Amino acid sequence: MKAKLNCAKEAVKLVEDGMILGIGSGSTVELFLKELGKRIRSEELEIYGVPSSYQSHIVAVENGIRVVDLIQFPELDLCIDGADQIDSSLNCIKGGGGALTREKIVASASKRFVIIADESKLVEKLSMPVPVEVMAFAYGFVAKEIEKIGGSCNLRIGSGKVGPVVSDNGNFIVDCDFGIVENPKELEVKLNLIPGVVENGIFCSSMVDRVIVGTEDGVRILERL
Ligand code: A5P
Repeated sequence: MKAKLNCAKEAVKLVEDGMILGIGSGSTVELFLKELGKRIRSEELEIYGVPSSYQSHIVAVENGIRVVDLIQFPELDLCIDGADQIDSSLNCIKGGGGALTREKIVASASKRFVIIADESKLVEKLSMPVPVEVMAFAYGFVAKEIEKIGGSCNLRIGSGKVGPVVSDNGNFIVDCDFGIVENPKELEVKLNLIPGVVENGIFCSSMVDRVIVGTEDGVRILERL
């Protein structure tokens, strides 16, 4: 918790008055929004944001961020988001919270994309199951195609409701285990070529400008070489 808070606080320093933010999702982003809210109130800042989930939308509103959309602002200044795994080249897996599609959109729309994560997220190579957002209509077919390229598929099941998780976009989330992901870019592209796949949780290093790693004592900054 302390480590997440430390990277969240460091990210808040990057925000300037009048900025339009891409807002990720998850518990670290929630801490970031609460810390940003304190600055908004004390410095009377005007900050705009495009949230990537209902979770971060609600927290953004509660903390004084003016929620806008990509029709009003197709280009965003800065995107702050968490991650589930980050490899030594800064490729990431995201989507533990099922918000990967909108997260990838707001990150892609932003001039700078900064990941905030505690150090438990750092790995040598990506290896956790890759979350894939899939149209419910296509689920059976997509699972078969993913198995053909070496993935083993698990339909994510919800809590607080029986049956599968339904994303903020009305789709299923399938966690696909490929073991160690040796070539993240290639897998990202292969998955997105399957009809019925909406998006997948591989965020290649080419989109990541900086990772702020939170530790118990402070932060460490990782930048793409
Ligand atoms: C949401 O879909 C994810 O991509 C989150 O950004 C990721 O799961 C990190 O979440 P925490 O900040 O809660 O660890």
